[in-house]
Amino acid sequence: MQIQDVELVISAVAPQQYPNDNLPEIALTGRSNVGKSSLINRLIQRKKMARTSSTPGKTQTLNFYRLNRQFYFVDVPGYGYAKVSKKARAKFGEMIETYLEERQQLQGVISLIDVRHQPTEDDLSMYRFLKYYGLPVLIVATKADKVSKGKWQQRAAQLKKALQLNQTDDLVIFSSMTGSGADQIWQWLQAHITT
Ligand code: GTP
Ligand code: MG
Repeated sequence: MQIQDVELVISAVAPQQYPNDNLPEIALTGRSNVGKSSLINRLIQRKKMARTSSTPGKTQTLNFYRLNRQFYFVDVPGYGYAKVSKKARAKFGEMIETYLEERQQLQGVISLIDVRHQPTEDDLSMYRFLKYYGLPVLIVATKADKVSKGKWQQRAAQLKKALQLNQTDDLVIFSSMTGSGADQIWQWLQAHITT
């Protein structure tokens, strides 16, 4: 897909701030620092549209990026970041859950995990949570540039097994650094976004 137009429409913390133009939305979830904001930048081919950081906890609001005035990527704060206070974590958790549970426009979720590691308890809970709410999920195993290509298929199989991935869901091995896997992510998006 050619992205001609990208706009950060709003950084929201509550439902009354969500956009009201009724376009489809795709959310990005995953641990802090896994690479959610980097994935957005790679897909839209803008290096710095979504703010990234080598320290976890960069994204703290629900950031709605409107692409080609057709649909939104919603960049979601990461989970599992120990240094955030308990209170702040509970507040984030609530904000994310409210969005994922209640948002009518949400048509699917790209859930990121680090290709190098087994899914954490939080990763497993997130996947189960998304399935409980009946959301289509694409698992993106990212930072693939950090493992040799020869290991990718094995990692994909291990991750699918660990997550007990549904038949209807897919897994893509991806790198924001090289762009490998980006085409497959676009294909999934095209199949799952209905306007
Ligand atoms: P939070 O906003 O804290 O939840 O993090 P995030 O998931 O948005 O992560 P972000 O995109 O900010 O990336 C975190 C760090 O990982 C940055 O230093 C990125 O440069 C790095 N990173 C992200 N994707 C990749 C990748 O595919 N390969 C490599 N080598 N590094 C990556
Ligand atoms: Mg981020």
